[in-house]
Parts: sequence; structure tokens; C-alpha cells
Amino acid sequence: MNFRRLLDIAQSLKASLVVVGILSIAFLIFSLLVGMPPIGYVLIVGFVAVPTLLYVGRSIRADTNKLTDARFLLVLCASILVMLPVIQAVPYGRAHSNPPITGEPQWSSPRTRELMARACFGCHSNEVEYPSYASVAPISWVVEAHVAEGREKVNYSEFDQRQRGADETIEVIQEGSMPPAYYTRFGRHPEAKLTSAELQELIDGLRATPGLSED
Ligand code: HEC
Repeated sequence: MNFRRLLDIAQSLKASLVVVGILSIAFLIFSLLVGMPPIGYVLIVGFVAVPTLLYVGRSIRADTNKLTDARFLLVLCASILVMLPVIQAVPYGRAHSNPPITGEPQWSSPRTRELMARACFGCHSNEVEYPSYASVAPISWVVEAHVAEGREKVNYSEFDQRQRGADETIEVIQEGSMPPAYYTRFGRHPEAKLTSAELQELIDGLRATPGLSED
């Protein structure tokens, strides 16, 4: 197949290429806003691209001028509609684990713990409350990835073991880098959005709790 032939094909699929472009950008923006893990990009793009490209390849080899925008878009829509239920069967993100609590910091007061639980336990504890949408892929993958990564950095429910990230607790709150922006986006988790008075109260409480800052 030569370059001219490729150009001809692109010409006959102009509208399709525009639709693919728009869908890709929309998917990318959505994924970035919710903090999609790499597996999400690979699986979703893969499940749509592979059948669509197989169809295009077959049509080109058959060389019957059957490759039209209408047919291409039909195959694309069908791939998307099939992909959505198929990805629900992926096991990743379905466990909703909450291992036993083996130890917590010696919180300076119940209020300190309460504020930490509101803002941070959604990812850094073994008391994660999984919302109903956490059962629907690809959002379930997003939640699973954030909880797994958060617990790996610091798990305030396993404070009997050394938690490497713990001494940065106060720092990340002061910087405003935790909780991550995506956590409270789209009106999600309003309880985690602390007022400036609550933030100050939390920081004071954490200063009086051992093991949560570098000094
Ligand atoms: C949506 C889940 C989520 C929530 C809620 C959350 N974190 Fe995190 N946290 C993460 C993830 C993911 C990482 C690792 C990636 C990163 O550093 O951005 C992390 C990293 C950290 C680290 C390690 C930083 C480092 O540089 O090693 C600390 C400390 C931390 N978080 C504290 C907190 C505190 C304190 C809160 C509450 C005010 C909080 N996090 C809320 C997901 C979360």
C-alpha cells in the first residue's frame, strides 16, 4: 500500500477522523481530571481501537471501497458500547479492601483524628468508605489506584509499622497538596474540604501528635 492510497483512505474518513479526535480529547480531559491510572488508558483505548482498526484493516485488504464514514462510525460506536460492559468484568478495582487496623498515631485529641479521617482516611487508612460509583469501571480503577498508592505512602491504620511518608503529614497539608485536587472535584467528598479554621485546628492537633513531622 502506498502513500497515495493512505491519503485516499484518510480523505474518505474525514468526518470519522474528526469524531475520533474529539472523543480522544474528551476522554483525555476526563481522565486527567479524575486521575485515571495508566491501566485505564490502556484498557479503554485498547478495547475501542483494536476492533475498529481490525475492521479498517480488513476493509482495506478487501479493497471494495466499502470504507465509508458511516460504516467506520458504526463500528466505532459498537466498540464503545461493547467496551463499557466488558470492562466491568476486569477484576482490578472490585476488591474494595479494608484490612484490619493494626495501629494508629497517638492522636493529640479525638478532634484531630476526626479531621484527619474526614480529609485523609479515604486513601490513607483501612477504613476507606467506598462510594457506590467505586463499583463501576473505569471509576473503580481510579479509586483502587489512589487507595493503593495512598496506603503505600502512608497508612494511618497501620501505625504499628514504620510509615515512611508519615513525617510529611503536616507539610503536605500546609502546602495544600493533600487531599489531591481530584478528590474534591465535581462536588465529590465535600467533607474533605476543610475550612481555613479547621485546617489550622488540624495542623495544631497534628503538631501535638508524635511522628507526623520531620522535627
Ligand atoms: C484521593 C486519595 C487521597 C487522599 C484523600 C489523600 N491522599 Fe495523600 N496521597 C495520595 C496519593 C495517591 C499519594 C502518592 C502520590 C502523591 O504524592 O501525589 C499520596 C501521598 C501522600 C503523602 C506522601 C507524600 C510524599 O511526598 O511522600 C502524604 C504524607 C500524604 N499523602 C498525606 C495525606 C494527608 C495528610 C491527607 C489528608 C489531608 C491526604 N494525604 C489525603 C492519595 C490521597
